[in-house]
Amino acid sequence: MHPSSFDKMAAFRRDYLTGRENEALTILDLGSQDINGSYRELFVEPRWRYIGLDMAAGKNVDLVLRDPYDWQEIAPDSADVIISGQTFEHTEFFWITMQQIARALKPNALCCILAPSSGPEHQYPVDCWRVYPDGLRAVARAPRLCGGGAETSPCGPPSDVQHVEFALERWRGPVGDWSEHFGKGRGQTHSLNGSEPLRSCKEVEAAKRLRTVREHAFWFSGCSPTAMPDIWAPWVRSLGANTPEWLAALNAAIRKCIRSTRGGMPDVAAWNTREPVALAIFLERKGPNERISEAQEDWGMGRVPCWDRALPIAVSVRPFR
Ligand SMILES: C[S@@+](CC[C@H](N)C(=O)[O-])C[C@H]1O[C@@H](n2cnc3c(N)ncnc32)[C@H](O)[C@@H]1O
Repeated sequence: MHPSSFDKMAAFRRDYLTGRENEALTILDLGSQDINGSYRELFVEPRWRYIGLDMAAGKNVDLVLRDPYDWQEIAPDSADVIISGQTFEHTEFFWITMQQIARALKPNALCCILAPSSGPEHQYPVDCWRVYPDGLRAVARAPRLCGGGAETSPCGPPSDVQHVEFALERWRGPVGDWSEHFGKGRGQTHSLNGSEPLRSCKEVEAAKRLRTVREHAFWFSGCSPTAMPDIWAPWVRSLGANTPEWLAALNAAIRKCIRSTRGGMPDVAAWNTREPVALAIFLERKGPNERISEAQEDWGMGRVPCWDRALPIAVSVRPFR
């Protein structure tokens, strides 16, 4: 390991983790193998857990990833910090690795990737890429990661969403068979523009849409996150200690406006402000005999003027567990 790399990681440790020594942090080091040095000593604190991950067994490797592009051994939303040095350039499918990193990070967690922008070819076990700062900035804007790229920064409010106005239409067409269309046409399902509702409102349809958006997705439901369909879990975060402050405040303000501690907000609010995605999704789960309340209807269809187009909506209709 080049001394300059160790120094850069030491600077990350100093600038971003000083003062957090009393927190129980899980720190993953991707490509941790000690070829001629490691970062481990920088992260030795009684309350911190440093785990060396690598696709190959070796010195300073605590966990060998059976499939480096599908981290089954690492739970989603489990890492407070992911670091990686001199590994990115050896990672054949770095875009998939970035998705695994994003999946493993808790909301508002930190990621520090060091990679060379030049240097002779050296295989560990392959040598694929050299990375410029713009390249790292670009991968940092990958799904569920945010921030400047070459530097990490916490998620902030979506700056280009300023005002939302609502117009709602209710589906008045024929009522489909419940088992086949799952609530279609039962006065609970709202489409984008009042035309026929989505053919299938099953969880998997909602999951597909969440997978497309997945920059930000939060479970607002008054029900516990365990009521969330498992298939949504990789994309949706629970509101909790790591909720961005502005979002918690917005949630509280809306509940106050509608004078209810439950309901009002959709169960899931997901959005992605970046082109070409640039859309928002609200998901509301209802039992067969439940109705969408008036307050909830406000979420059914919206238009964000700065985007100058209606927001696509997906509504999942099924009983709570
Ligand atoms: C050049 S070594 C860097 C080791 C150490 N971080 C350092 O800076 O000295 C690159 C390491 O990345 C590992 N590696 C390469 N591709 C990987 C991948 N896709 N997932 C996990 N580890 C990978 C290799 O096995 C190797 O141990």
